[in-house]
Amino acid sequence: MYRTHTCGCLRACNVNQTVTLAGWVQKVRNLGAMTFIDLRDRYGITQIVVEEHSPAEARETVCRVGREWVIQVVGKVVERQSKNPKMPTGDIEVTAEKVAILHEAEVPPFTIEEVSDGGDDLRMKYRYLDLRRPPLQRNMILRHKMAQEIRRFLSDEGFLEIETPCLVGSTPEGARDFVVPSRMSPNQFYALPQSPQTLKQLLMVAGYDKYFQIVRCFRDEDLRADRQPEFTQIDCEMSFVEQEDVLEIFERWAKHMFRHVMGIELTEPLRRMPWIEAMEKYGSDKPDLRFGMEFAEITDLAKGHGFSVFDEAEYITGFAATGCAAYTRKQIDSLTEFVKRQQIGAKGLVWIRVAEDGVKSSIDKFYSPEEVRAMAERCGAVAGDMVFILCGKKFKTLTQLCALRLEVAQQLGLRDPQKFAPLWVVDFPLFEWDDETQRYYAVHHPFTSPKLEDVQYLDSDPGRVRANAYDFVCNGTEIGGGSIRIHDSKLQEKMFELLGFTPEEAQKRFGFLMNAFKYGAPPHGGLAFGFDRLCSLFGGSESIRDYIAFPKNNAGRDVMLDAPGYIDQTQLDELYLQLRKPEE
Ligand code: AMO
Repeated sequence: MYRTHTCGCLRACNVNQTVTLAGWVQKVRNLGAMTFIDLRDRYGITQIVVEEHSPAEARETVCRVGREWVIQVVGKVVERQSKNPKMPTGDIEVTAEKVAILHEAEVPPFTIEEVSDGGDDLRMKYRYLDLRRPPLQRNMILRHKMAQEIRRFLSDEGFLEIETPCLVGSTPEGARDFVVPSRMSPNQFYALPQSPQTLKQLLMVAGYDKYFQIVRCFRDEDLRADRQPEFTQIDCEMSFVEQEDVLEIFERWAKHMFRHVMGIELTEPLRRMPWIEAMEKYGSDKPDLRFGMEFAEITDLAKGHGFSVFDEAEYITGFAATGCAAYTRKQIDSLTEFVKRQQIGAKGLVWIRVAEDGVKSSIDKFYSPEEVRAMAERCGAVAGDMVFILCGKKFKTLTQLCALRLEVAQQLGLRDPQKFAPLWVVDFPLFEWDDETQRYYAVHHPFTSPKLEDVQYLDSDPGRVRANAYDFVCNGTEIGGGSIRIHDSKLQEKMFELLGFTPEEAQKRFGFLMNAFKYGAPPHGGLAFGFDRLCSLFGGSESIRDYIAFPKNNAGRDVMLDAPGYIDQTQLDELYLQLRKPEE
């Protein structure tokens, strides 16, 4: 037997027992007469002591061991003279009688402790060493626990976990596909699924009624802290449901997760916010509701007073930054620089300082104090607040102001990761117009059903049509999203047409689904949650990487496996592939 106990379980009640432990050496402290070793496994750390009167063999062995060596220790549990209340095992230590080396280790490239001295790149390269650290182990344990709770809840509700393939044809989620060349079908490629969207719809046609899967998805898109090329969805679909049924069950699911994983009771029904309200009040379809600072449109108050920037603008909107009236010139300048950065692209920032004795603003020469006050009041400002205003094209301005609202909230410490503000965003538009390509795109995907009452505008004013689509949002992140699907072939054909597919193209890409529908499709709908994002929300970290055992870096590379990599000529020949220089 390699061990009788783990390194995390011994307590004062074990004193006098003889135990065998095995693990990694986190630290060795040689004090001459005595040597202390912190022995670590995934359950914790136990202090091992080798004393002057310990057996000579144990003393000799301990002299050799270094950091991260794998050892086995037989010894007696004793009460510590100086206890460490910070460690669960801090009341005891084990006096070694026998020490065996199970594996020597090279000096690791960074310290494997709660806080490491290694930089990001180095830790990614040696991910297996980073994964030994307690914070990452806690993250993996959290992920495991969440997966169990997801399965428990959904299975109890009658959902069946069904696996769908990874080698499929292209799926329409809007990102680029990762493709895999086929050896048996020369010059043809599989695509890795961006989501199992069409497959889960086929499962509904097949009569499975309630499906779920914790499933890997692949999207070749630009990476960010909350995006990986390969990520995991909690993918769900249900038959004979309307939007209300889906929201009801997944609201209970979300509350179940908060209760069983986080110990948090969400007693109130989740807020449901129409998309347009989210945009106009928060400048985002994923509003962060942990704090207020809502926007108010002031176009009517601000236009027509000779201030050309406002006079020429389509939309003028602002918000009251709580308690920021004391911001210095320097702070305002730095926020102005912030909104003028290329990624945000505002032209400038207008401010109104609201004090007990009056208002002062960057536009005082164009407006009377009463007019400035009216604008500040519309934004909900009270004495002590600072109003920030942007203007321009409506949705661009709202998005820019959203970035500023989040920045100010960050500076004010309002984005507390321990606080949770979940909501549903509903009534999304069905289409979005793209100026560059001069055509409509599906906001969700082409299978999303329009709201029945809006179907009348499909031809005359597609931009006005709202979708039976919904997102689950928490703390400014889109955690999940889905929709009720179209199950009327005529309407589906119309959608393809509006999205610019010829009937032939639509048949080529989605024929398998359309044909399946001909054999009896139930009304159906569903949604998918980003599992990695849910983990990082619960774990309180910005980056989903911390919750993925082997993530890719920002360039989409696995630096540990050095992938993607070249393959040899034989393999290329078998696949009918020819290499080309990137610049060709
Ligand atoms: P959607 O594209 O909105 O919907 O994806 C669902 C959820 O998956 C997560 N997500 C990601 N997480 C990490 N990295 C990524 N690159 C990434 N992309 C998406 C998000 C998102 O909310 N088939 C539909 C769902 C449906 O209609 O049922 C779909 O995939 O948390």
